[in-house]
Amino acid sequence: MYAFVLGKNKELSKEELSCYFETNNIKFKIINEGNDFLIIDTKIDPEIIKDLGGTLKIGKVTPLEDIRVEGIYGVSLYGVPSHTVFRVKKKIKENNKAKLFITRKDKLTAVEIVMKDLIGREVLVLRSKKIYYAITQSVYDPFEYKKLDVERPNQRGMLSIPIRLSKIMINLAKLKKGDTILDPFCGYGTILQSALLSGINVYGSDKDEDCTESAELNIEWLKEQYKIKAKHKFKTSDVLDLETEDKFDAIVTESYLGPPLRKSVTEERAQEIIDELNTFYEKALEKLSTVLKKGKRIIIILPVIRTRDKTFRMSIEPKDLKLIKKISDIHPKHITGREIFIFEK
Ligand SMILES: C[S@@+](CC[C@H](N)C(=O)[O-])C[C@H]1O[C@@H](n2cnc3c(N)ncnc32)[C@H](O)[C@@H]1O
Repeated sequence: MYAFVLGKNKELSKEELSCYFETNNIKFKIINEGNDFLIIDTKIDPEIIKDLGGTLKIGKVTPLEDIRVEGIYGVSLYGVPSHTVFRVKKKIKENNKAKLFITRKDKLTAVEIVMKDLIGREVLVLRSKKIYYAITQSVYDPFEYKKLDVERPNQRGMLSIPIRLSKIMINLAKLKKGDTILDPFCGYGTILQSALLSGINVYGSDKDEDCTESAELNIEWLKEQYKIKAKHKFKTSDVLDLETEDKFDAIVTESYLGPPLRKSVTEERAQEIIDELNTFYEKALEKLSTVLKKGKRIIIILPVIRTRDKTFRMSIEPKDLKLIKKISDIHPKHITGREIFIFEK
């Protein structure tokens, strides 16, 4: 049994895991869940964390009295009060000669775990309906995420989708190695980067030539850094005019989210923007559906606009596509948020 410590958006992380397990034929059963973790009965190699964008840590559930640690160890608390650490420390002292690494916060970060070499020596205490103890087997690699983001030759800061989210979207698409995806609003190519790292071939298009050129340079850098063999192809085109003979195993994209909104807008203005975008995306998705293979998925991020009292969301029903699920990802302080739509043809 394993504890999966999840990222900020639990619903999204949970959906990613269930798609990932299904695609890779891994049997699993969710036994319990807390605010930010799942207890899952499954057999996995904890290194699968490298494939996941929404999981921060994977720990092996172990009774507290069976925990064996050497040297320095750490404790992270999920859903339990901070004084729990003293009880855990006392119990561990009975069976171990290790020394507790104290931090001011109640959870160790991935950076601390990697820097202090605490894999196999971090005790997770997790409470939902009952208390579970687990020993961390793997954490996401924070340095790898940073490298993929800031070391690529072309960057676009806030306009790029976070690497973590792009990874989640690739998993939601339920792809196999050797499949090919299209990102028709590819920007500087973040989603395509994540796909290539999973052995997926990519086709990127964008109406802006600067984007397709920058994305191509980013992808060439990535392929060289990671010795990737999967193929890539780019085209500068408006999505509505996109001509291609290829048919894709998925379309994964973060689209145009409307004009940048720094200040709050009126309800009338929010509705106007959403209506305009609805019309555009109805057309765009109809077009995209013609280059998607039957039974395959479109994962697309669409905008949500918040006014003082109301949240405005897109509602599109493109013909030939079935809406499987939508999951919101809205920062409490932002005016524009994201909603991840999963369609199937
Ligand atoms: C939010 S950005 C995509 C960011 C990208 N996922 C990344 O991380 O780099 C949206 C992109 O859509 C492109 N775009 C906007 N309208 C378009 C259209 N009608 N057809 C094709 N591309 C379009 C823009 O040029 C922009 O690069």
